[in-house]
Amino acid sequence: MAHVSPDLKVLYFGTPVVLISTCNADGSANLAPMSSAWWLGQSCMLGMGNRSKTMENLTRERECVLNLASSDMAPAVDRLAPLTGTDPVPERKAAKGYRFEPDKFGAAGLTRQASAAVRAPRVAECPIQLECVVEQVHPFATGASAVEVRVVRAHVEERLVIPGTDYVDPIGWDPLIMKFCEFFGGAANVHSSLLAAAWRMPHQGMRQVDNVSG
Ligand SMILES: Cc1cc2nc3c(=O)[nH]c(=O)nc-3n(C[C@H](O)[C@H](O)[C@H](O)COP(=O)(O)O)c2cc1C
Repeated sequence: MAHVSPDLKVLYFGTPVVLISTCNADGSANLAPMSSAWWLGQSCMLGMGNRSKTMENLTRERECVLNLASSDMAPAVDRLAPLTGTDPVPERKAAKGYRFEPDKFGAAGLTRQASAAVRAPRVAECPIQLECVVEQVHPFATGASAVEVRVVRAHVEERLVIPGTDYVDPIGWDPLIMKFCEFFGGAANVHSSLLAAAWRMPHQGMRQVDNVSG
């Protein structure tokens, strides 16, 4: 097997897309797609940029909901991609075509569902919803943090639970995977990606998107 040694620009090898809902200071909800997440036991580590509204809310409120998106939710996730809850939009994001949006649920066409243990709402369309509390915020890389959260309540669409058990059916669960900024499900490219366009990725699947400047 011949290997070459490229200076890899992006190390996003493939992780599930999480819609993270948090509460703003005025009690309204923010919602943001993220995918630098991994789970261990009942905890999860979230890689978040420090300048996001989500990070501001997580630090203040110490809670969130991790809503796991299924592959058929790619269009809704892509509608959230160019949005931020931060007003004014930070300069580097403005240059990438981001705009301020106070109603992310409305903009994405998603439905708020009340949570049981935290103030942030769930995303009704997501088959798996994890209510979480923030345990610790660790500095990570430049301008980012690793936010350690603990799951306090899980909600799973009934058809995805193996009958008579507390386990998710791995065949039934088709997560939306973000791989090199593109959207995949069942290993197939399922939707064009504004994130891939904003990052000027050399491979932009499905169709070329020209309306977001990098
Ligand atoms: C598919 C996808 C995955 C993303 N993954 C992350 C991530 O893991 N961490 C992060 O900080 N931002 C990630 N982003 C970018 C955030 O969604 C973006 O910064 C957004 O503006 C955050 O919204 P907020 O400022 O309202 O919190 C991702 C975006 C998309 C579309």
